[in-house]
Amino acid sequence: MSFWSSLPRPIIGLSPMDGVTDASFRSIIARQGKPDVTFTEFTHVHDVCRGPEILLETLIYSEIERPMVAQFYGKDPDLFYQAAHAACELGFDGLDINMGCPAKNVASSGSGAALIKTPHLAHAIIQATRRGIEDWAGGQTLEQAGFKPARIAAFQRLNEQRRGRSLSVRRPLPISVKTRLGYDSVMVEGWVEHLLREQPTVISLHGRTLQQMYRGAADWSAIARAAALAKATGTLLLGNGDVQSLDEVVVRVRETGVDGVLVGRAVLGAPWFFRSKEQARRLAFKPNGSGMESCADEAISLDQRFAVLLDHARQFQGLYGQGQFHRMRKHLGWYCKAFPHAAALRARLFRVSSVDELETVIADYRTDRIVDSVQTESVDDASTLTSRCS
Ligand SMILES: Cc1cc2nc3c(=O)[nH]c(=O)nc-3n(C[C@H](O)[C@H](O)[C@H](O)COP(=O)(O)O)c2cc1C
Repeated sequence: MSFWSSLPRPIIGLSPMDGVTDASFRSIIARQGKPDVTFTEFTHVHDVCRGPEILLETLIYSEIERPMVAQFYGKDPDLFYQAAHAACELGFDGLDINMGCPAKNVASSGSGAALIKTPHLAHAIIQATRRGIEDWAGGQTLEQAGFKPARIAAFQRLNEQRRGRSLSVRRPLPISVKTRLGYDSVMVEGWVEHLLREQPTVISLHGRTLQQMYRGAADWSAIARAAALAKATGTLLLGNGDVQSLDEVVVRVRETGVDGVLVGRAVLGAPWFFRSKEQARRLAFKPNGSGMESCADEAISLDQRFAVLLDHARQFQGLYGQGQFHRMRKHLGWYCKAFPHAAALRARLFRVSSVDELETVIADYRTDRIVDSVQTESVDDASTLTSRCS
């Protein structure tokens, strides 16, 4: 039995977002209102096995995030076989295979959502991943799986840094797949049937095709058809796409029969998003509709917002160092919306390079030294983000 079967229903999870849901943001989310399940940003299987050690950064996580699923992408079954050993050795609770990323640099090489076009390869990847997990669970060592000593030492450092639970029992990890509705047209039935033949524990389905990227609206009626196909197969079906609130989670679950929902962009600048998930769960299965009831949280005060932002920034700097602080700036912008002079504050925040500078800017704002006349606030939409998988 995997952790998935013991999760409450509907499952309400955090969708992986490369360049966004790093270990610092995820640990803030875990403390502000924990999702039922969390994924790493996607990592290329080659980078897991042989890439520069710095690229293993995406595999950092902390114990409070559990259940924690590693997400890998690529197109080489042999590398998936090997990388599966790494996911197990690093103490993850599950392994997710990305078959949904539409970004050119990923899909043009045949990985991510391009696998929808090559189902035979998708099958081979899932099978190789399963073999890797089974061989590891059967006692195969990382050396035997072909890892070099330096890579094994890097994994040990990651485990020591986390000071996680020890791997006294070698338990096989559940495999899940995150994908889209099709390549250039919706072909959800054919594609999901392919995936179901491999009996993954979970399929997470973003309601768009590769060609759509982020255009148009997520097609939840197609997700509902996939949920119907998966019913009674033993594979759970999670829907994903454009969900803005826990109230919308309730509506989607009731309308489509999915086993759960993953939420991505709505969590940007709102790590407290999942706080009322128990209320959402109650409403999702309440007979006779959810009526007028809502899971809306009490409003987050500006002081609370700044406290979380600072906490997040400290966490980020502690993990990745001040030299990387520029990567934190987009988050600072997302926290600053819909309050007085937020645009002027954002403009200052986009230039900060350390927690110290950030504290000074926030203090200036609190003492009215940052003011502008902008009335209407807007903030970058995540679809404008640059990412390897956007
Ligand atoms: C910046 C960005 C990075 C993303 N990176 C990943 C990723 O690493 N792995 C993945 O499976 N999906 C990735 N996605 C897709 C999201 O997980 C999710 O499927 C998509 O954003 C739709 O859900 P939403 O409307 O709730 O955001 C990314 C999306 C964005 C915006």
